[in-house]
Amino acid sequence: MREVFEVTAQDGAARIGELAIPRAGVTVETPTLMPVVNPNLITVAPSRFPEFGAEMLITNSYIINNDPDLHERALEEGLHEMLGFDGAIMTDSGSFQLAEYGEIDTDTEAILEFQHEIGSDVGTPVDIPTPPDAGREQVARELAETQSRLELAESVDVGDMLVNAPVQGGTFEDLREDAARHAYNTDLDLFPVGAVVPLMNTYRYDAVADAVLAAKRGLGRDAPVHLFGAGHPMMFALAAALGCDLLDSAAYAIYARDDRYLTVHGTEHLDSLHYFPCDCPICAEHTPDEVERMGDAAREQLLAEHNLHVSFGELRRVKQAIKEGSLMELVEARAHAHPRTLDGYRALLDHSEQLEATDPAAKDPFFYTSADSARRPEVLRHHKRLERFDPEGDVLLTEGSGNDGFDDWWNVAPPFGPYPRALSTTYPLNAETPTRMDRAGYEAAADGVRRLAEANPDTAFTLAHRDWPESALERVPPRVDAVDIDAGDAADETAGE
Ligand code: GUN
Ligand code: ZN
Repeated sequence: MREVFEVTAQDGAARIGELAIPRAGVTVETPTLMPVVNPNLITVAPSRFPEFGAEMLITNSYIINNDPDLHERALEEGLHEMLGFDGAIMTDSGSFQLAEYGEIDTDTEAILEFQHEIGSDVGTPVDIPTPPDAGREQVARELAETQSRLELAESVDVGDMLVNAPVQGGTFEDLREDAARHAYNTDLDLFPVGAVVPLMNTYRYDAVADAVLAAKRGLGRDAPVHLFGAGHPMMFALAAALGCDLLDSAAYAIYARDDRYLTVHGTEHLDSLHYFPCDCPICAEHTPDEVERMGDAAREQLLAEHNLHVSFGELRRVKQAIKEGSLMELVEARAHAHPRTLDGYRALLDHSEQLEATDPAAKDPFFYTSADSARRPEVLRHHKRLERFDPEGDVLLTEGSGNDGFDDWWNVAPPFGPYPRALSTTYPLNAETPTRMDRAGYEAAADGVRRLAEANPDTAFTLAHRDWPESALERVPPRVDAVDIDAGDAADETAGE
């Protein structure tokens, strides 16, 4: 791997980075979104991509190679001139066609040389995108073939063109991880997670999350990761949270072709829209009625432009969230718009431990916005940290205030559980949480009490809580004396009557 990528900010597994593309003479800020250009079906001219915020595009060298006219022009003018785009250009190899049609008439060496000849900045060998539900034997066999092609790719002389090392492995997490480790140990440069398009087309975002996180475990932190075919803005926040640095969108054009309008929450059909729920120039200047009455080409053009605007708008929102450390809140907000993105978020939370390893120690205050927030990496980190404290004697853990009868007293707050009072204004304990806490928040707090108690077997603990549900109290070890502060008040009031 050449040293082309530098991480400049991190939030969980997400990062802002600088990706140097030597052949293009540019450095691209990641996460970046590459519009997909089908040279036979151009909807929005690539010369206009910078207006939307694109720094890089991806096109298919296989299509160009197999079309006599495009082939000749690409060799004569070069790809940048042919497409009218000065930024960085990535080329795919025909592997996708291989997956669709079963065979292609090129190989890794020939296609990489062709990509180099037409001036591509990032090339791709012919990897094998094994479909998601293939059995283990097929996945392993095809992965071995992909790996030998990556090794072949290392030996092709492509000058300063960067080369992708696609990571395959189907839905077998161990194979994905091995594939990633192998790819990382080649001298190739970028690491696309492959064959996830069928998963995304069927909205299986949980399987996407598992595949990407498995690949990430086999890659070093300095590896730029591309999610091949991730084009719907409803999943950009999730993709970034999984640690993806490059995304590509064919959706902006494909959806526009059949009157589909992208939003960060999902897809709308033009004929169901009475108003455009978007601030982009297209939506500000037109009504759905007007666009519907236009000719096919004009309508497709405007919808594609909106689709690009909404995609790059979401990408900027994602980058801002990473910088301020609020990406998980954005992922959660997007997750709650659609049951399938919620599955993706929950799969992400299953790997909180992995996210926690690269999460910064301090960021903007933690916002607890649903029961899922109780499983965020920040909560997990606090619980691990509790095992390193050693309070002594008779210790009160309370949602209320102190009490003279104890040697020491700590605060308790869901979802974190107990913490020394001195930490109450520090991250993440300065969290904004709902007054009407949910069961999951109390249960997580109870887990914190248990962790602290188990780490300090000789300390006596009393937990003074406010009406915690039974499901939370069951998680507190019996030797912790639990008292309900509010029940106490009620008893006093009764006694005073
Ligand atoms: N485009 C979408 N998925 C893939 C993949 O797995 N490999 C390649 N080369 N291109 C893709
Ligand atoms: Zn719009």
